[in-house]
Amino acid sequence: MADALVLDPWGTSSIKDYTKLMQQFGIEPLSEELVKELPYAHRLIRRKIIFGHRDLGIIVKALQEGSEYAVMTGIKPSGDFHLGTKLTSEEFIYFLSLSPKARGFFAVADLEAYADNRIPLEESYQIALNNLMDMLALGLDPKRVYVYRQSEEMSVLRLAFIFSRSVTYNTLEAIYGQKPFSLYFSALVQAGDILNPQLPHNDGPKPTVVPVGADQDPHIRLTRDLASKHRDDLGFIPPAATYHKLLRDLTGQEKMSKRNPMGILYLNEGLKSAKLKVMNAYTGGRATAEEQRKMGGEPEKCVIFVELLSAHFLEDDKKLEELYWDCKTGRILCGECKARAWELISGWLRDHQARRSKMRDAAERLLTEKTF
Ligand code: TRP
Ligand code: SF4
Repeated sequence: MADALVLDPWGTSSIKDYTKLMQQFGIEPLSEELVKELPYAHRLIRRKIIFGHRDLGIIVKALQEGSEYAVMTGIKPSGDFHLGTKLTSEEFIYFLSLSPKARGFFAVADLEAYADNRIPLEESYQIALNNLMDMLALGLDPKRVYVYRQSEEMSVLRLAFIFSRSVTYNTLEAIYGQKPFSLYFSALVQAGDILNPQLPHNDGPKPTVVPVGADQDPHIRLTRDLASKHRDDLGFIPPAATYHKLLRDLTGQEKMSKRNPMGILYLNEGLKSAKLKVMNAYTGGRATAEEQRKMGGEPEKCVIFVELLSAHFLEDDKKLEELYWDCKTGRILCGECKARAWELISGWLRDHQARRSKMRDAAERLLTEKTF
């Protein structure tokens, strides 16, 4: 395939065409019919930020039968929580909330942070502690989740070793391109993370859903393949996954980068700098106010509309649609619109930060105690 896409979970690639991505890798679109089978549709599903899935039917079935399933994800502790990590956390919390039979497993990917970002394990512990405070403030129920660090989780490391028997260098290179061995090893550890909920000490095989960003699909493909290879000896059920779009940063760049701090809104950020970032965000406004009144704005191109309000801060579908048409028809200009958006965002940040500040002890317990 001459124009085949390569997805690099450690790289800076951006995805332009999600339809092509789905076709090439066999990701299913998240259809209306399937969404209707869920108890309720999360904002990220309604807004099509979560655009695709693999095998989500196995979770729908478990929900309908009232049987047990696992929700598994992980985050690399490489910095403070921002809008991107908020997405993954909200999806994790959502899938857990759908049934009392759902069990959460959350990997602090400290080995991957070491391999990819050279972050020493002691440092990533502190980062993870901070990240977990955010997850708890976002609504994670600490009683429903098992949190562990990759570097400390013997069963995950053993699985990674077992899997290494069925993976050749050629397979890894075909999936990920040529990478340092530490990253290949992280990929095997991640496969261990994803199948760990199905090991005997976690009560054996069960449907598992992994909510992730689209760039993580190579890991899902590898893991599903390994699960099939170990169906006979370990009984694994290939994991289901849901995928969210990789959103642009505040300046409209396709990929968030720490080198562009104006692009990233942190959840624990001071309101003054947060305001500066929001007010300078990339919009779909026209060159002059007059032009915008005449032609209307372009909300579909606008970071305030797409990334901030639709993806994160405006829960009410009707209000979002109203704003869309107000922008489209030139009834509202960007200055006023940003000021309104800031009202919502600052209110959210204040509440979140107040909740967050009370979560240190609970986060520490999650990180140090075994919960099941
Ligand atoms: N690779 C993921 C990231 O970059 C982190 C991760 C580790 C993960 N283990 C996982 C994600 C298991 C989903 C499932 O953030
Ligand atoms: Fe974006 Fe609002 Fe300007 Fe429209 S009016 S382009 S939604 S900031």
